[in-house]
Amino acid sequence: MTPSRGSHWPHISIATLCTSLFLATAQAAEPVFDKASNDSLLWGPYRPNLYFGLRPRLPKSVLTGLLWARVEDFQTVQNNFRHTCEQHEGMAGYGWDAYDSRTGGVQTIHDSGNSLDLTTEFVKFPGGTNGGSWGARIRGTPQAGASADLKTAVVFYAAVEGLGSLEAQNVDEGENQERGFEGDVVINGQTPDLGEFKMVISEGKGKRAVHSHPSGDDKGLERTFVHSVQIPEEALWQAKRELFANTAQRDHEAILFSSMKTTIDAYIEQYGQEKMPPPWQTYTIQNRPGQGNMHMIQKVFEGPFEFDVLFSSTSAEKLVTSEDITSKVKSITSSFSERFLEVLKPQPPFTRARYEEFSKSLFSNLVGGIGYFYGDAVVDRSYAPEYDEENEGFWQETAEARARNQQKLEGPYELFTSIPSRPFFPRGFLWDEGFHLLPIIDWDVDLTLQIIKSWFNLMDENGWIGREQILGAEARSKVPAEFQVQYPHYANPPTLFLVLDAFIDKLSSAASLGSNDQQPMSSGFASSAAADPEAAKQYLRDLYPLLKRHYQWYRSTQWGDIKSYDREAFSSKEAYRWRGRTPAHILTSGLDDYPRPQPPHPGELHVDLMSWMGMMTRSMKRIADTIADSDDAAEYAKIEEAIVRNIDDLHWDKEEKTYCDATIDDYEESVHVCHKGYISIFPFMTGLLAPDSKRLGAVLDLIADEEELWSEHGIRSLSRRDELYGTEENYWRSPVWINMNYLIVREILKVAQSPGPHQKQARSMYTKLRINLVETVYKSWEETGFAWEQYNPESGAGQRTQHFTGWTSLVVKIMAMPDLEGKSGHDEL
Ligand SMILES: *[C@@H]1O[C@H](CO)[C@@H](O)[C@H](O)[C@H]1NC(C)=O
Repeated sequence: MTPSRGSHWPHISIATLCTSLFLATAQAAEPVFDKASNDSLLWGPYRPNLYFGLRPRLPKSVLTGLLWARVEDFQTVQNNFRHTCEQHEGMAGYGWDAYDSRTGGVQTIHDSGNSLDLTTEFVKFPGGTNGGSWGARIRGTPQAGASADLKTAVVFYAAVEGLGSLEAQNVDEGENQERGFEGDVVINGQTPDLGEFKMVISEGKGKRAVHSHPSGDDKGLERTFVHSVQIPEEALWQAKRELFANTAQRDHEAILFSSMKTTIDAYIEQYGQEKMPPPWQTYTIQNRPGQGNMHMIQKVFEGPFEFDVLFSSTSAEKLVTSEDITSKVKSITSSFSERFLEVLKPQPPFTRARYEEFSKSLFSNLVGGIGYFYGDAVVDRSYAPEYDEENEGFWQETAEARARNQQKLEGPYELFTSIPSRPFFPRGFLWDEGFHLLPIIDWDVDLTLQIIKSWFNLMDENGWIGREQILGAEARSKVPAEFQVQYPHYANPPTLFLVLDAFIDKLSSAASLGSNDQQPMSSGFASSAAADPEAAKQYLRDLYPLLKRHYQWYRSTQWGDIKSYDREAFSSKEAYRWRGRTPAHILTSGLDDYPRPQPPHPGELHVDLMSWMGMMTRSMKRIADTIADSDDAAEYAKIEEAIVRNIDDLHWDKEEKTYCDATIDDYEESVHVCHKGYISIFPFMTGLLAPDSKRLGAVLDLIADEEELWSEHGIRSLSRRDELYGTEENYWRSPVWINMNYLIVREILKVAQSPGPHQKQARSMYTKLRINLVETVYKSWEETGFAWEQYNPESGAGQRTQHFTGWTSLVVKIMAMPDLEGKSGHDEL
């Protein structure tokens, strides 16, 4: 028997899983993602750029969204409407407090600008043949200090793209048509993928904002308004157009605002500026229910409110009810909490309940930020010779080539991925994703494997994957034109291989359980693929040709030149150079403005890329081993050794006692360029230094030195002693980054756990660094309500992008790492 994949994790007992693990091998491999498991991922808040935007992960289907605003005076309404996540708009924190991709979760939004706290609950109900049903509950509570009669307009909308239809069922035909709906609003719909369904927007609870102005006689706020429109498909994602002439930037939400504008114009005509209805009547959509591919449903409340959206697939046995939501929310949040403690429980000294809340919140936002994107991408494939970047001054040629604007639209493509930040980077980033998936794979292996597969499916025939995935017009609307174009010779750190490595770790620890079932079952196996070794291998076998093509693409496009400059090294082949650099940046490296050799030179060698290639090669070796391709495994082992040897031969600087980039000087000699910082410890961070490496002592000393990399808030990106420390953009020139720090603390832990000359030093560094990192992210979260893109090494303050719950969420894993000091070591924090 195989594990009951159809069930969600809370229902699978550890015992069942362990039993199934041993029996499964006898069977033929089943599809890795069976229908029930796959179905449980169909719906989600997969429009993470919105505060609350649901959709299925299907190319053209149903989209929903939520808008709200305080509507108390004419002056402020224009700034009050919320829809897409934005930075600095009176938001005092928002996000998922608990979220699981299979079952749903709870989000709270502290909207101080509107004096409102909003809760959005979302739960799924499996059943039927079309991917199940779901329910959402939207609840608003005036914040402490807000007036008790706070007036809030709320609009929920549903739209359908492509084939399919939606129709608002007109329950109140006849004379009251204009006035609005009483009771629930029902929308019937169907699409080819979802079949037939019914969506009910409940009457809800809460006082409606009625008033005595005569406008209320024709269209009473005690009712619900429904406006159904048929709009051109490309514009469907734009639910808000500029209503106000002076806010030309707000080009979303077009349709909603044009409906409101019609209402406003009519009121101006009817009542004149002097006798206008109150704002809460004025800012209402038209009531025009019927057919259309977009339906807006508006309610205007006074004080607290609540209503539900119930989506029932007709193929399911029963319709979802409000009571179902209540009981399901209870059960999923409590099983979320239970399971969180099994999988990612913060370890001492982070034992206070508040740390657990913090950890759950960051993790839930990472998972709740997973999105589904579909659309075309802008790519420039006009491979001019200048793109080879082999000439001195190549970056000027590249700039000229780019200016010719040869880009074209490609696709459409689809991508299922987590994202770095809902307000600022609501789309897929290749190197971020590897870091995102490290906590996620502990929680849900199958989900992780689906995301990995989705990324590798984007690969072109040469093996290239664009580093930033800006798919479709909605995604492009957030990105300046010059950053939209992707170039097929540009790489990015291959971090998805860190995740494949973690997957293989899980497989091998499962395999070792076969011979020794004393150990507890690793909780990562609550998902099916990893609990079924044959299915897991089949997944890797299916993916392997893509992985190979991708690997070969890196080797053939990002190679570095050893021979032309008579460099001495163990291997004459293994050296690497990022393409796409300019004097100021190597955006492709991910470490944008980190100091590099000046001026750029085609003879450069980059130690970070060399280290990534070492990590990638080792991971390929382990994958080849796992699927029993011993020829390939032997080949990768050779390359790995060559890389490890060449890192020392080409990048170790004896004087500086550190790893450095290399370039060619005015005398055509190869020389090192050393800017101490993350670059100098890359071979260590990527796991390529053995615990008995001769270089390890110097690397640890550099990390531990307060005059260089060590700060109370984590390891700095650049040494304090470097002349460029903190200069210019100061993006990767001093701030503390959590993704790099995670790799550092993880490697230091390995040294601390293996006997050797550096064990003692590593142990004390590990304990301090772990606390410094957690405390920094935690304190800033307490103060500001947000996780941040990076942290100031002097003050610990979070900086740059707000609500950066992408790789900063790795702090969840750091908290779950072991405490090496035991009870007596330090006090509880
Ligand atoms: C899983 O679901 C997606 C859509 O959500 C679909 O495209 C895919 O084919 C499904 N895979 C399996 C194995 O059912």
